[in-house]
Amino acid sequence: MKILVTGGTGYIGSHTIVDLINNGFDVISVDSFINSDGSALKGIEKITGKKIINYQLDLRDKEKTKQIFTENPDIEGVIHFAALKAVGESVEKPLLYFDNNINSLLNILENIVENEVKYFVFSSSCTVYGSPDKLPVDENTPVKEAESPYGRTKQISEQISKDVLQNTSVKAIMLRYFNPAGAHESAEMGESPALPPLNLVPIITETAIGKRKSMMVYGDDYDTRDGSAIRDYIHVMDLADAHTKSLQYLINNTDNHLFDFFNLGIGQGVTVLEAINAFEKVTGQKLNYSISGRRSGDIPAIYADYTKAKKLLNWNPKRNIEDIMRTAWEWEKVRSKEG
Ligand code: NAD
Ligand code: WQD
Repeated sequence: MKILVTGGTGYIGSHTIVDLINNGFDVISVDSFINSDGSALKGIEKITGKKIINYQLDLRDKEKTKQIFTENPDIEGVIHFAALKAVGESVEKPLLYFDNNINSLLNILENIVENEVKYFVFSSSCTVYGSPDKLPVDENTPVKEAESPYGRTKQISEQISKDVLQNTSVKAIMLRYFNPAGAHESAEMGESPALPPLNLVPIITETAIGKRKSMMVYGDDYDTRDGSAIRDYIHVMDLADAHTKSLQYLINNTDNHLFDFFNLGIGQGVTVLEAINAFEKVTGQKLNYSISGRRSGDIPAIYADYTKAKKLLNWNPKRNIEDIMRTAWEWEKVRSKEG
């Protein structure tokens, strides 16, 4: 079965392609390289032995996007990762985020409906829940007013997907990721963004390898067990597995109007200081960090209730924060050597 993966040379997309290939899917990718350099295609080939075709184009381009579907009339499913994802940048450049994330989605949906593609999986985010009143967060937790234009693109994208697909026979799943991190066990691929990373795990590994002199823990005065903020870090290969399982669920489900949401986290909150300790423990590296004030817009704590994904998708994340740190570190060492 042929699956189109948008954003296939990005971080989560490339790891998902590996898992899809390992589960017998035939994959093509589209990525403009706006936040990747295409090197993941080599990693995919090394790991799976399969060469993936990537259409290097901007999904905002209606005609070029249409062309992918014309050339591949056998596409049966689309997993839509392509988006810009930097929260801070979205505050500075809201129009760019709405233009990129929403127009890409509209073009993809238009082609899905026109070409009667059967399955659609969308990358959403726990950011749709804002700062939740109750923990853990399940899928019935109210979606709150978005805290950034990026977050709003995810909320709007979920709503647009529902409005567009509800009167069609396209089955769809919105996956709300918590904090993706870690790399493929082989260290053939991991996170290599075009822009300097802003997320905790790559900042930890970049500090340890010496790309950064030191790092900051943003706040030790939260009402948590050690004062630092709590997140639910989910290994990227567990996330990849959830996409394959989502497709399988859509394929096997007889409800032609299926449209559902799933949280993807490991169900355990980890503080920033615990994450740093886990890194130091598994790598034997001492991290140079200091405590600073809170980062604006950060919430004290969030972690997932993933019972629904466990029950319906048969998904069970297998890796913990130590696996995340170990694989992210192995990848950082390779990435730094390659420059
Ligand atoms: P990423 O930046 O590594 O991958 C996204 C890819 O999409 C990039 O390779 C980029 O070049 C491509 N892209 C962006 N806009 C495009 C366009 N208009 N046309 C063609 N290609 C385009 O990001 P990621 O971490 O792999 O995230 C994948 C998806 O998951 C995104 O939708 C993101 O919002 C969502 N998400 C990510 C996280 C996270 O922390 N990484 C958390 C929750 C949700
Ligand atoms: C995690 C924790 C920081 C860097 C973001 C997006 C969210 C989702 C995932 C896409 C926080 C702390 C971080 C540092 C630190 N993305 N931290 N020092 O903010 O939970 O979520 O990525 O959908 O929408 O907002 O992730 O990795 O940036 O931060 O102390 O140098 O680490 O304060 O508590 P976040 P993060």
